[in-house]
Amino acid sequence: MGKILVVNYSQTGQLNEIIDQFLSPFDPDRIERHQIFPVTPYVFPWTTEEFFDKMPECVEEDTIPLKPISYTAQQYDLIVLGYQPWFLSPSPPVTSLLKDPTFQSILRGTPVVTVIGGRNMWLNSQESIKKLIKNAGGKLVGNIPLMDRTSNLISAFTILHWMLTGRKDRKWNIFPLPGVSEQDIESASKFGAIVNSAAAKSDYGNLQNEILGTGLIEIPTDILFIEQRAKKLFRIWAKLIKTKGTTPAKRKRLVSFFKYYLLIALFMVAPVILFVYNLLIVPFTGNTIKKKKQYFCGVETK
Ligand SMILES: Cc1cc2nc3c(=O)[nH]c(=O)nc-3n(C[C@H](O)[C@H](O)[C@H](O)COP(=O)(O)O)c2cc1C
Repeated sequence: MGKILVVNYSQTGQLNEIIDQFLSPFDPDRIERHQIFPVTPYVFPWTTEEFFDKMPECVEEDTIPLKPISYTAQQYDLIVLGYQPWFLSPSPPVTSLLKDPTFQSILRGTPVVTVIGGRNMWLNSQESIKKLIKNAGGKLVGNIPLMDRTSNLISAFTILHWMLTGRKDRKWNIFPLPGVSEQDIESASKFGAIVNSAAAKSDYGNLQNEILGTGLIEIPTDILFIEQRAKKLFRIWAKLIKTKGTTPAKRKRLVSFFKYYLLIALFMVAPVILFVYNLLIVPFTGNTIKKKKQYFCGVETK
């Protein structure tokens, strides 16, 4: 049996913990594990300004320089790619890895399982990842998204607390803990066991069904609704900020507008629209919603 290449980025260490759990059922001798490190690390905790300033380049999938990775082989039996969505797009370290010619040559003809550790919006970023893998000639055979299960508004609030203070604790001692719950992080070992047995047989035909069969992965209808609309708006903002933000002062002003736009859209506009949508539209579009969720839960590319 050949080796399994495991590669991921993690800024706070959350995704490292998820991958640790995921790998626990595997034979360690079969695993070659690497972390992605940007040449210039992202500062953590974030300042509000730096956090929102990352949006345009994330959305336009620009690359950043990465520290070189010393792979011990040119081909692997399986690749496990761990990543996190940033602004409904893959985080730049992962976009950069997927656009790196050396990694692309390793990807060619190789099955890939993605493991995502995010807040709650991974649908758009996974569509980008599917395309990047496909363009390099790889084959996505499984996807395991682990998310914060609290409501969209609460998780937005708690993740901002975490990102801007660097503390993964309860805000004011009343809010829930930010990020993927301990229980869900531990559950990654269940997914690891499923992928491990598929890898032992080199048969990934039913892998995604088995992953979904755990019942641990679900797409809330509200999230589906928001993701289907928000990325288009992010793209408009990204283009605007990049083309009109030609000096640091202009860019700063535009990013600040985007920040207020996003906070108002998320905390004030979306709840009203979602209330109406859930009341008037959802009851009549159950089948369409179900089909869309099935697509996003799967590994096929449109
Ligand atoms: C700049 C930025 C943007 C983010 N945008 C999203 C997002 O669009 N969707 C999402 O589910 N999580 C988002 N997150 C949360 C991350 O996906 C991730 O859960 C968190 O950063 C911790 O991951 P880590 O393992 O890299 O520390 C964002 C985080 C950052 C720093």
